[in-house]
Amino acid sequence: MIQIDDANHFFKIDTPHTSYVIAVVEGYAGNIYYGPKLCSMDLTYLLHTVLPKGRSSEHPEDRQSFLDLYPMEYPCFGTGSYTESCLNVIRDGQCGADLQYVGYELGAARHQTGMPAAFGSSETLKLILWDPILEIEADLYYSVFTDTDVIVRSATVINRSQETVYLDRAMTASLDMEDKEFTAITMSGAWAREHFIQRTEIPYGGLCAESNRGIPGHESMAFAALISKDCSETNGEAYGMNLIYSGSFLMKIQKTPYHLIRTVMGIHPDTFRWKLCQDESFDTPEAALVYSGQGLSGMTHAFHDFFRQHIIRSKWQYRQRPILVNSWEAYWFDMNYDKLMALAEKAQAQGIDTLVVDDGWFGHERSEPSKSLGDWFVNQKKIQGGLSHLHHELQKIHMNLGLWFEPEMISEDSDLYRAHPSWVMHQKGRRPVLSRDQWLLDFSNPEVLEYLYNSIAKVITESGLTYLKWDMNRPICDMGSEYLPADQQMEIDHRHILGVYCLQERLLRQFPDLFIENCSSGGARFDGGMLYYSPQIWGSDDMDPVERLSIVEGLTMVYPLSAVGSHVSSDPCCNTGRKMSLTSRTNSAMMGSFGYELDLTKLSAEEIDTIRPSIQTYKGIRELVQKGAYERLASYRENKRFGAVQINAKDQSKAVIYALQVLNQPNAPAPFIYLRGLDPDAVYEIEGKQIHGDSLMHAGYSLVHAEHDFQTQLLIVTKVNKKGAEQR
Ligand code: GLA
Repeated sequence: MIQIDDANHFFKIDTPHTSYVIAVVEGYAGNIYYGPKLCSMDLTYLLHTVLPKGRSSEHPEDRQSFLDLYPMEYPCFGTGSYTESCLNVIRDGQCGADLQYVGYELGAARHQTGMPAAFGSSETLKLILWDPILEIEADLYYSVFTDTDVIVRSATVINRSQETVYLDRAMTASLDMEDKEFTAITMSGAWAREHFIQRTEIPYGGLCAESNRGIPGHESMAFAALISKDCSETNGEAYGMNLIYSGSFLMKIQKTPYHLIRTVMGIHPDTFRWKLCQDESFDTPEAALVYSGQGLSGMTHAFHDFFRQHIIRSKWQYRQRPILVNSWEAYWFDMNYDKLMALAEKAQAQGIDTLVVDDGWFGHERSEPSKSLGDWFVNQKKIQGGLSHLHHELQKIHMNLGLWFEPEMISEDSDLYRAHPSWVMHQKGRRPVLSRDQWLLDFSNPEVLEYLYNSIAKVITESGLTYLKWDMNRPICDMGSEYLPADQQMEIDHRHILGVYCLQERLLRQFPDLFIENCSSGGARFDGGMLYYSPQIWGSDDMDPVERLSIVEGLTMVYPLSAVGSHVSSDPCCNTGRKMSLTSRTNSAMMGSFGYELDLTKLSAEEIDTIRPSIQTYKGIRELVQKGAYERLASYRENKRFGAVQINAKDQSKAVIYALQVLNQPNAPAPFIYLRGLDPDAVYEIEGKQIHGDSLMHAGYSLVHAEHDFQTQLLIVTKVNKKGAEQR
């Protein structure tokens, strides 16, 4: 609910359990409260605290101290505010802006062009800010939902003047608050070990989660949290911020000398400048804000519900996801029709329903990364008879077809490059940097998008594929376009992402049942923006269960488990060389949207026989994976011994626990776990034992004594009955 006090210019934005209060002081919109839900919106008594006592001068125009202290909703650059800002406008070569509140609209529709937009909000408030000198308007949007404690923010900047201006930065939002001795959580990583949680003290000067790679990258995630000193999984305060965007981003957390923490989030200003002519507008990406008074777990639940219910649009969100076998780590580039059919037959016999033909099926000779990207036609030498024949044969054995594409890329050795050398992103006179032997296409050029749409749609129509894996295997650099004029060259980074969104949107409109799985060298583009188009994203190229503990822990702090593509790979793991049983690898892969990625024809008869029962087990927990409430019970990153998670049915009728004890310790007791979120008054069955919910939660449950390294357990907890508390 959104309440407005017109007389005092207060705006109170309520989610089911939180309130966010905005006031207008000296003409500026500022956030004066964000936290547990308040019953009253009268916070006038707080206003004197945001005005400083000792001003540097008493001159009425001296706003310096005010600008240093006031918790600004959308701070501007160049006009007296020196902390990180949201907006900087260049006109006639001069920079700066100064936005004052002029009005509001309740019930406004958010203005979001060609970008992911949270759906199903119950109410939206628009605050209208105005710079009278530049004649620039900035509309700030705030949306709430009835079923999750998330506030979605975004901004639209409109040029109402006759002059052309350039936006040097146009961020999504700023969130200012008192420093309650917060610690920051951000993610760090690298390829095959992405999304590792890091906790950092916030220094004066600040810290950043950021990417200038054109993708969020392995190195970072468009997410940051501020947590109180006492914040644990279930207690304390956590403010989570997520930018729903798939390109270069900046989340800067600054601690000011005045005990204020400002977090500014949005498109990275380093790779951005946008031309705005008269009456043109620019929409920022949206950001999701969460306040949790129940620790990190409360924050995670709010984000998961939000992404599942208000971002992931795919029909596949709650449908039974395909259980697939992917050809990549089975055959790499060395695939052909016979091998694929042999893999499919083996897979189908065990209950797998989809064959995803990964990299290697297209172009004249895709036998290594340097060739054929851009040539999206089947290689008849490898897939004899073509894709429609392959699909036809798969259908005979009741298997669906999936195909890998990497549409944003071009190989120098490709028909596409030979025909259109000007379509490569590059800077005048400079040969573009190769990364994974490939270059980027210039997505600001509509001809490029048209070519890609037509070639991908043709393959989909002809082959009848139902599953499309969209990969992106290198970061962006050499930001230059032969298509854009000189004063718009800096738009290419954001236009690239708009192009990706536009293509995926067009494909989904044309093929509404299409299942898209996004991917970027593993998990380098795992973000809310891509989830708008695909219900799941490939989490990481690393499927080693030990590494997975940290990777999935980071991902699921924000994104729902069902969004994480997760496969059983071969032994030893190609990334770590670690050997592990098929059972451990399978249990680990069940923590996500499940599949296989190894040559099943090479497994022993004994191993193959375990696959069908494993798939049955997964089908038994698939509903929990897709809809359940996720709990981190134990973090291997913290305890260096074991990891454990629990996923609960929302009605508390069932749960699944996954645990991995990493290195076996001699003469050590088995680890204990304390379950969460069960019905305390009910009896549950676990491993044939009947135990009360409150006992499992408070007295705990012992994992097995490990007999070897890498021992996993998958425990199903089922509610047997509900006893009245008095019977106990
Ligand atoms: C990336 C992906 C892999 C696979 C390869 C193919 O690395 O993450 O899953 O698709 O590309 O080249």
